[in-house]
Amino acid sequence: MAIGESATGAEETEPVHVPPPVIELVRITEAGAIAAAHWMGYGDTMRADAAAVDAMRHAMDDISFSGQIVIGEGERDEAPMLFIGERVGRGDGAPVDIAVDPLEGTNLVAKGRSDAICVMAVSEPGGLLHAPDTYMDKLIVGPPAKGKVDLDRPVAENLKIIADSLNREIDDLTVVVLDRTRHEKLIAEIRAAGARIKLIEDGDVIAGVSAAIGGTGVHAVMGIGAAPEGVLTAAALRCLGGEILGRLRFRNDEERQRARRMGVTDEDRVYRTEDLASGDDLRFIATGVTDGEVLEGVRFLARGVRTHSIILDRKAGKLRYIDTTHFDDIAHPPIIRTTR
Ligand code: FBP
Repeated sequence: MAIGESATGAEETEPVHVPPPVIELVRITEAGAIAAAHWMGYGDTMRADAAAVDAMRHAMDDISFSGQIVIGEGERDEAPMLFIGERVGRGDGAPVDIAVDPLEGTNLVAKGRSDAICVMAVSEPGGLLHAPDTYMDKLIVGPPAKGKVDLDRPVAENLKIIADSLNREIDDLTVVVLDRTRHEKLIAEIRAAGARIKLIEDGDVIAGVSAAIGGTGVHAVMGIGAAPEGVLTAAALRCLGGEILGRLRFRNDEERQRARRMGVTDEDRVYRTEDLASGDDLRFIATGVTDGEVLEGVRFLARGVRTHSIILDRKAGKLRYIDTTHFDDIAHPPIIRTTR
């Protein structure tokens, strides 16, 4: 009997975790981004989001994997699709956990503003925290400052650490902050320390990714955003070597109770990147819906559509940009340009 062969003649192989190829996964965010982009500027957040959800869900059905949504559009009774716990994929491949935000920046699309994306993170089962849908106080930095900053340190001290890690002065830093009244004190502290601020309307996931990619002009993200977005950001930062520190923040008792039901026992816990996205085999995939610093938005052509995506693959150690032209009709391809 040959090695690896059983008495029945069948080969005995170790169960290996083989997730779907990233080039398959990107079809999912591309589909979501294209669907959402049709709604750009219509002032209708609900329909833009629903279009992205629907397109992503259908694209998943076509791909060989056995996925479970761990972060999605909400609880089963609130969301018709991509709800937490929903099984997705063709069901015939490797089991994977999936965090999705079909439209990160629904308001941005509704208003035709920049930096809206369609995004998902994938890991082996158990590799993404089932974060409650509450707020999270976040501090996000790139690889040079990883392990050096501390959420409980004064803002000015963290800025000094970030500046030192990048061999520059504090006034050469740009910090992204969501433009919210809850951030008035934070903004004042950043300004007092001398750093520059980029106030954004929405979309702290792609801002967090920017902080870990050189040349984007973003050196940190600070302030309170959504906790599920923190998990998506963490998945990207595990691939890029950056860091997110986060502490859950509750708006009311209902959120607190929900978090307890999801296993949160220590409300003051600071979650590190590895706590939020602990997986070994992590992938982060995002497609631009509207133009931004990291990704270009969807372009509708005469007989096709062009999309721009980023794929981060932790295990493979790769960052890929994928520029895809989708043909409406293979017999009549659109005119393909080398530049966007
Ligand atoms: P959506 O996915 O709902 O478009 O969220 C956009 C977003 O700006 C996130 O990037 C951010 O974490 C969160 O909303 C901030 O929440 P709020 O708008 O309540 O301040």
